[in-house]
Amino acid sequence: MSSAQYLQPDASTQAAAAPRPKRVRLHHLAAAKAEGRKLTMLTAYDALTAHIFDEAGVDMLLVGDSVGNVMLGYPSTLPVTVEDMVHHVAAVSRGTSRALIVGDMPFGSYEADAREGYANAVRLMKAGAHAVKLEGGAARVEAIRVLTAGAIPVMGHLGYTPQSEHALGGPRMQGRGDQRARMLADALALQEAGVFALVLEMVPADIAAEITQALDIPTIGIGAGPHTDGQVLVWSDMAGMTEWTPRFVRRFAELGQALKEAAADYIASVEDGSFPSEDHYHAH
Ligand code: KIV
Repeated sequence: MSSAQYLQPDASTQAAAAPRPKRVRLHHLAAAKAEGRKLTMLTAYDALTAHIFDEAGVDMLLVGDSVGNVMLGYPSTLPVTVEDMVHHVAAVSRGTSRALIVGDMPFGSYEADAREGYANAVRLMKAGAHAVKLEGGAARVEAIRVLTAGAIPVMGHLGYTPQSEHALGGPRMQGRGDQRARMLADALALQEAGVFALVLEMVPADIAAEITQALDIPTIGIGAGPHTDGQVLVWSDMAGMTEWTPRFVRRFAELGQALKEAAADYIASVEDGSFPSEDHYHAH
C-alpha cells in the first residue's frame, strides 16, 4: 500500500468491529505532497468532536488558539493561555487515534525567548500534541530551530496571522505588492529552519500557488485558493454552527440551526408532557 493510499479514509473504519487505522505521521504528509494527494485539517477543541472528525478520516486536527474566540467567548485569540491549550490538546488527544494532532502555541508563549517557547511546547506535547504550530516569518527561525532540535515538529503559519491582528490592522489579505517577495522569503526561511508544513491564511491564490511550488514541504491553505497542498477550516465555520462565516468558507452543513431546532423540540416536548413517553421509562 502506498503512503497516499494509507492516508485515504477507509469506509471500513466506520464499522465498530473494524481495526483502527494507524496514526498519521510526518512522513505520510511529505509523501502526500510528493504524490499530489490533497491533505485535510480541521480545528478541534474537545474529545467529542475530535472523535467524529478522526472517524471521518481527517489527516490532521489543529487544536487552534481559535479556541479563544470559537469556544471560550473571547473577542480574539490573544487572551488564550498555555494552560488553556494544554487543557484542550489533552481533550482532543483523548478523543482520537488516527489524526496527527497539532497544538497551537498561544500569543506570548514563544516570541521573546526560544527557550521559554521550548518549555511551553513541551507542555503541549506532554498533553498529547504530536506537533506545535506558531505564527510568523523569519523572526521565528531561532524558535523553530530550538524546537526541532528538541524533537518537537513545528508547523509554520504565514499570511494573516491572527495573533498579530492589531499590528496587521485586522483580518485582511496578506502578500500583495511589495509583501509578495517577503512572504516567499519567509516561507523558504521557515522551511530551512525545519518546519514540516506551512499554513497560508488569507493569501491571494496565485501567491499561495507560487509558495507551494517553491517549497518541498506541504502548504495548508485557509482563504488561500485551491493550489495549496491541503486545506484547513475552523470546524464550526465548516459545519455552519454560527450565523456568519468568512467569505472563503464553504458551509458543509447547517448544524447551528439543526441544534437550535433540536433544543426547541426538546423544550416543547418536556413542557407539553410528550417526553418522556412510556418508551423512555419502561425497563426493556
Ligand atoms: O487557530 C486556528 O484555528 C488557526 C487556523 C485558522 C489555521 O490557526
